[in-house]
Amino acid sequence: MTKSIGILTAGGDSPGLNAAIRAIGKSAIRQHGWNVIGFKDGFRGLMQNRIIRLDSDMLSGILTKGGTILGTGRDKPHKMDVGGSVMDMTDVMVENAAHHELDALVCLGGGGTHKNAYRLANKGLPIVTVPKTIDNDLYGTDGSLGFDTALGIATEAVDRLHSTAHSHHRIIVVEIMGHNAGWLTLGAGLGGGADVILIPEVPYSIGTISNAIALRKSGGSTFSIVAVAEGAISQRLASVVQEIEERGGPRDEVKAALTERRSTVEIARQLEDRTGLEARVTILGHVQRGGAPSPADRILATKLGVAATAAIADGEMGVMVASDGEGTKRVPLSEVAGKKHLVPQDHPWLETARALGVCLGD
Ligand code: F6P
Repeated sequence: MTKSIGILTAGGDSPGLNAAIRAIGKSAIRQHGWNVIGFKDGFRGLMQNRIIRLDSDMLSGILTKGGTILGTGRDKPHKMDVGGSVMDMTDVMVENAAHHELDALVCLGGGGTHKNAYRLANKGLPIVTVPKTIDNDLYGTDGSLGFDTALGIATEAVDRLHSTAHSHHRIIVVEIMGHNAGWLTLGAGLGGGADVILIPEVPYSIGTISNAIALRKSGGSTFSIVAVAEGAISQRLASVVQEIEERGGPRDEVKAALTERRSTVEIARQLEDRTGLEARVTILGHVQRGGAPSPADRILATKLGVAATAAIADGEMGVMVASDGEGTKRVPLSEVAGKKHLVPQDHPWLETARALGVCLGD
């Protein structure tokens, strides 16, 4: 009997999603003759039965396109806003998948999507996931769609900021995405030659940073590039969070404490006050997620897409298809959901930065 599969993209978009949709769809059609449909706007489209048929025509010409042709959303199936009320719609989603006689649903997403996919899988929905996030913070995979592209964009930005910082003898503080992980900032900071790199995994002290900039200034370098992760926190705030976690305080208390995080503008103002150098702020924002995927992301998306189809053909459900060196592997969703892949303290990128005398703020 001909199989039918569904595809949805959830969470923040990232370059490479269309390349993966294409690879899943093409391999499903060419190798197996399956029917392929897409749900619009993530889990909301699954709840509302909004579908598009992904035939060969629809899958053609999308390899290089940014974003996702399916649309995406940050809805949580167990906490959906339905007409102003928050409702658990997981059962409705399982029923809708059955209504379309789906043999499998492929969910492309990041940390949140993996938790949601696991919930649906536990309700009996046959699910395979594909890791996607520019933050590179997904557990169990060597890489995730969009990270390489975002890294290229952020690195180019750090490069470009050098000449203007140099010309004006300024500090330029550049804020880079990454949620609570420092991969993008550390990578772009190293690749772009930032003088200071601040990531959530290494809490900073403003005094240490200003001393490093003052030292550069006394050595004749009257400009500095500070790459700061959007999730970077001060040592003081880190100890507040640690205290809450050690006494088993609720997650909401941690979240409330983190709202006290210094903004990038505040960091710049404090560095200006302490060093006497003029400072400017550049927030890269969503430009890091926009546009065409890099060649590495296209290849990753294509290999993961084909791997997703292969997992379905083998009847292996409830797994994420992960990048594993040159190849792929299947990791149970139970091992991925709720876990994060942060920068370890002994990671070679951190050690490399320290060896070069880059200030990490600690
Ligand atoms: O997870 C990807 C990401 O781009 C994070 O780096 C960032 O914190 C977040 O999404 C931004 O989300 P939104 O697109 O909803 O503003």
